[in-house]
Amino acid sequence: MSKNLNSENQAREPSRRFCVAPMMDWTTSHYRFMARVLSRQALLYTEMVTTGALIHGDTDRFLRHNPKEYPLALQLGGSDPGELAHCARLAEAFGFDEVNLNVGCPSDRVQNNMIGACLMEHPDRVADGVAAMIAATRLPVTVKHRIGINGHDSWEDLCEFIDKVSAAGCRTFIVHARIAILEGLSPKENRDIPPLKYDWVYQLKARYPHLEIIINGGIKTFDECHQHLQHTDGVMLGREAYHNPWLLAGVDTEFFGQPAPVDSRHNALRRVLPFIQEELDRGVYLSHITRHLMGLFHGQPGGRQFRRYISENAHRPGSGIEVIEAAMAKVPEPEISAPTPA
Ligand SMILES: Cc1cc2nc3c(=O)[nH]c(=O)nc-3n(C[C@H](O)[C@H](O)[C@H](O)COP(=O)(O)O)c2cc1C
Repeated sequence: MSKNLNSENQAREPSRRFCVAPMMDWTTSHYRFMARVLSRQALLYTEMVTTGALIHGDTDRFLRHNPKEYPLALQLGGSDPGELAHCARLAEAFGFDEVNLNVGCPSDRVQNNMIGACLMEHPDRVADGVAAMIAATRLPVTVKHRIGINGHDSWEDLCEFIDKVSAAGCRTFIVHARIAILEGLSPKENRDIPPLKYDWVYQLKARYPHLEIIINGGIKTFDECHQHLQHTDGVMLGREAYHNPWLLAGVDTEFFGQPAPVDSRHNALRRVLPFIQEELDRGVYLSHITRHLMGLFHGQPGGRQFRRYISENAHRPGSGIEVIEAAMAKVPEPEISAPTPA
């Protein structure tokens, strides 16, 4: 049973004013739990899960998350309408707030299976998949895509994509503001080398004012976010939110007019400790968790010592949260004069 149903029996739309991007191997449940301690409002996305993995693999393991991570969107990779519909139903049954289709990932591995950015060339297929997902779930169905791929990178191609996918019922498009080059560039290069064209995303919003357009790619600061929010409905940050997660501690105040949920990096980490303990109790290795916490003291005096202590100690057999506590003690703790928020 889905959470938050409204009077039309549809799931309530989460706010997408500030989103943290789906990132394979990075936006794991462990990262997301920390992110949620830092911001109550940012919409978080899972790593991409392929429909094949969900249907033929260990479904529970792939969809496992902590309810404290909500609002949380599940990102799917796939293009078979029947499989997408099935996985959209799973997303609802497991309590996610949104189901998102990946049309932006450029890796060869996924291209061979008609997953990711190669689908930009097949808007009818994406439309069929989206229609099937919408028919299968009450959750909002959204699409994350590029502004094109090599050979299909004209403004007309992009508008054809949006026309067809929106006609299938999708009303939220998360647009990575660069094309993907499907031959010759690695996924990493494809996140840096094709130039960013923010104006294309702005023009999409102007042309399709009834659609929700979220902009993504290369955004690092709140000033940049505010600039983009003058032209689009929301921003999505990926690498910066991972490498410098403390940024998220300002999101609720800056973009939602609400008090910050936590007043210091130390207190944020303390709030994550019980969750880490639960994970350790179910047999997860400490180092698998701590690798996602490394950015928290980014740029702080003592931050390097924090990271070094964790790197040298978290992998030792039997390591527990005392390693994190000792690492945290390497960083001078600021005195907090303001009252501690709830
Ligand atoms: C390590 C890594 C993994 C990623 N995995 C995914 C993914 O699973 N699905 C997806 O749609 N995008 C993925 N991306 C792309 C990001 O969602 C985002 O579109 C891209 O990094 C540009 O945003 P940024 O400049 O704010 O990082 C990944 C990016 C990184 C760095």
